[in-house]
Amino acid sequence: MTTNFKRVIVSYGSQSGNAQRLARALIETHFSTTITLELVALNDLAPETIGSNDLLLVISSTFGDGEPPANAEDFIQKLQHCQTLSNFEYAVFGLGDVAYPRFCQFGKALDAALAQAGAIRVINRVDADTNYQQFFKQWLTTIDALLAGDTEIGLSLTLQVTPYSEHQPHLASISSVDKLNTGESTVYQIDIDISGSGMHYRAGDLLYVLSDDDQMLLRQLANWFADDRAISAFANKELRLLNKALLRTIARKSGCTALKNNLKQSNKDQLAEYLYPRDLLDVLKDQSSEQVANERFISIDDLADALSTRSPRVYSIASCGLMHPDQVSLCIREVAYEFANRKHFGSASHWLSNAAVGQKVKVFTRSNPEFHLADQQQTPIIMLAAGTGVAPYIGFLQQLSQQVQRGSSRNSLLFFGERYRQHDYLYQSQLQTWQEQQVLQKVITVFSRDQPQKRYVQHALLENGAQVWQLLQAGALLYVCGSRKNLEKSIDQALLQIAQTHGQRSPEQAQDYLASLYNKAVIRRDLY
Ligand SMILES: Cc1cc2nc3c(=O)[nH]c(=O)nc-3n(C[C@H](O)[C@H](O)[C@H](O)COP(=O)(O)OP(=O)(O)OC[C@H]3O[C@@H](n4cnc5c(N)ncnc54)[C@H](O)[C@@H]3O)c2cc1C
Ligand SMILES: Cc1cc2nc3c(=O)[nH]c(=O)nc-3n(C[C@H](O)[C@H](O)[C@H](O)COP(=O)(O)O)c2cc1C
Repeated sequence: MTTNFKRVIVSYGSQSGNAQRLARALIETHFSTTITLELVALNDLAPETIGSNDLLLVISSTFGDGEPPANAEDFIQKLQHCQTLSNFEYAVFGLGDVAYPRFCQFGKALDAALAQAGAIRVINRVDADTNYQQFFKQWLTTIDALLAGDTEIGLSLTLQVTPYSEHQPHLASISSVDKLNTGESTVYQIDIDISGSGMHYRAGDLLYVLSDDDQMLLRQLANWFADDRAISAFANKELRLLNKALLRTIARKSGCTALKNNLKQSNKDQLAEYLYPRDLLDVLKDQSSEQVANERFISIDDLADALSTRSPRVYSIASCGLMHPDQVSLCIREVAYEFANRKHFGSASHWLSNAAVGQKVKVFTRSNPEFHLADQQQTPIIMLAAGTGVAPYIGFLQQLSQQVQRGSSRNSLLFFGERYRQHDYLYQSQLQTWQEQQVLQKVITVFSRDQPQKRYVQHALLENGAQVWQLLQAGALLYVCGSRKNLEKSIDQALLQIAQTHGQRSPEQAQDYLASLYNKAVIRRDLY
């Protein structure tokens, strides 16, 4: 059986062009039928002209605070005032971003308004995040089947991203925790089961983790106050990344001049250096030691009021959503150090590294479009990783391995830096397998402490300058991930030198060239 549609109207609402591009792609799709296809912006579509044998396919984004894009803002009103609306069939594909509180609001409003006006929904509404390509492909397949006569298929389609956030996280569970190195600064791969969550992610996206309380630190604070009420009062509070408002309260209550002085804008570097190893207890102790040792100058309740809620910590996802839709992998270095005769642990990294299999963890994802694998399958890629900076590339390489299986290949080069080859070569066997399978053309490793002279990723980049230059000339994208302190300036310096040595640029021309790499988004960075 085939359907009786005479015409398919593809209508879009689009502010920055995504929905319009998808609408065009839809028009250019060769469906298995020969129905007439029309393309029109929502504002230019008169509802009374849609006939009962027409199929209306709407693709629209949401803008502002859940508002329609400018070229779609009149449509719902026209629909509501239309006296002679046919009972045509329709489907809505909403584009949005889960980072906004009113996710896909306009798509939802359109869908409701069309149904309210008497139109018949033939495909369930799609609520897509910025990773909409996969949903779009599935939507196209569904439309094709609908046009070929399968009138049921669209009503069983479920393509709706659930908008999780800090205030509404998903309760996932830890499926494994594995050590990736034997070095003194331990790195773990942590796999998190997200099945049934409605989360969708791409290689390069980010996972936010809301960790549980550090019970040891809460106990130490309770001991300092000599009052166990501190444990519940400070639960879920940020006890490590201390903000200026809190420090101002502490400085005011303690009357200590040193902290007050550090809080001046002109002393911001000094303050950062002071805070780097310290948690709340260290700061409290420092203030009281300026007066009478252990004097408690602030009450538990006043301090609890001044403390903010613990912030989620963000991690590069080390897996590919196409290959592992039900799982997110992370590659995490545990923050653990001794300071002032006390062990200190990073809130999230320590909690995750010590999590038991099956333990629940509150998470949400965020799309990171600047750090996605280039869509054009021929685009070469250069990946620079320091330590856990390799995480997103594990996702990229999983995605590339799927592309290689389908017969496509691209030039890919990975620079990986760590401390010791013997202890810290993260994902060594996996990276070697990918090389054997031609998923990855080459891995260039550099281990800083394996020789008397320290060597880092930027040194390896320079040594391979000719190849890097050649790849950049061939249109490569260059990804940089890892420590901001180690990579931010040094990679720029190496690229300037490469442009001079291998591109015969003068120092000024090299500066312009580097600026153009940033302007054209050839360089993509995730630094922390
Ligand atoms: C986009 C992005 C992606 C990221 N991806 C990853 C990733 O893939 N893997 C990963 O491991 N991390 C990643 N991070 C870093 C991560 O978000 C956390 O900052 C990190 O895990 C520490 O969080 P925590 O809660 O364990 O520690 P916190 O409780 O936040 O404590 C960290 C603080 O402890 C102090 N500190 C840390 N080490 C020492 C030390 N040796 N001596 C003294 N003081 C110290 C510093 O003040 C530091 O700011 C990423 C960050 C960003 C922004
Ligand atoms: C300024 C701005 C506001 C946005 N507001 C929302 C919003 O309220 N809800 C939502 O789901 N998405 C929102 N988005 C995300 C867009 O809907 C998303 O980027 C979409 O892919 C854009 O498609 P378009 O290019 O067709 O307009 C916003 C994006 C921007 C840049």
